[in-house]
Amino acid sequence: MTSPISIFDLRGKAAFISGASSGIGQHTARMLAKAGAAVALAARRTDRLDAVVAELRSERHKACAVRLDVTDPSTIEPAWREAEHQLGQPIDILFNNAGVIYIERFTSQSYEAVSRIFDTNLKGAFMVAQEAARHMSTHGQGSIINIASSSGLRAGGQMSSYGASKAALIHLTQIMALELARKGVRVNALAPGNIQTDMQAEFTERGIEDGIMKRIPMRRFGEPSDLDGATLLLASDAGRYMTGAVIPVDGGQVLSWM
Ligand code: NAI
Repeated sequence: MTSPISIFDLRGKAAFISGASSGIGQHTARMLAKAGAAVALAARRTDRLDAVVAELRSERHKACAVRLDVTDPSTIEPAWREAEHQLGQPIDILFNNAGVIYIERFTSQSYEAVSRIFDTNLKGAFMVAQEAARHMSTHGQGSIINIASSSGLRAGGQMSSYGASKAALIHLTQIMALELARKGVRVNALAPGNIQTDMQAEFTERGIEDGIMKRIPMRRFGEPSDLDGATLLLASDAGRYMTGAVIPVDGGQVLSWM
């Protein structure tokens, strides 16, 4: 009898990871490769990806690096095409992860900073997902995983542009799911809580980590690997009847309001 765990197997599939040069993106690229997928790591500076690609290749995983700036539409289609060319197969999974944070009071947020947040977290994610959806629709299968945030599910002080961009990404996920279901493309979102990456340093610098910790029922910040289970579920055949789902991975943070 085949093991029920085999439905999580990604052998034969290919994944594209945006914002793969650090944090959750870099960790997830390694994890998806170890689960069997060929992986394309995408970032603005490909030199920051070379070491990871070399490491994965030395472990006999199929991996490549492609240049992508999600705020520059002229880089998106070439990045996707280059990834498929280098991996030698169509891409089945998009881990739509590139994002930036901005913590500031609503009345003090500058036009430039607000634009950067929406251009990256919403417009950038939108355009990368659109590219993915066009290709995946042609092949009649695919899984798009948008990386939202618990900030998109509940209000948090000083997070107006970031939270609004992630709330919009969640709404976009649901509309994409509706439109793409009949094309064989599933679209879901992860809503991580506070995960220990470079982004978390923004909270540390402002001395607000302790306050946040008090609102996490499990009383610890997450690690990038805490997202692995939900990512594998959405990426693999294990999630084949799931589309439009938004999965919090946050130690219960979204449940807690004081
Ligand atoms: P990170 O700062 O390590 O990673 C973000 C990545 O996005 C970086 O590699 C960065 O170079 C890339 N990026 C930014 N702008 C880009 C652009 N224009 N084009 C291409 N790549 C670009 O932070 P982390 O934590 O790994 O963040 C990954 C995602 O997870 C983000 O979307 C973030 O909003 C989301 N998230 C993170 C949480 C956390 O607590 N760390 C919580 C909830 C969501």
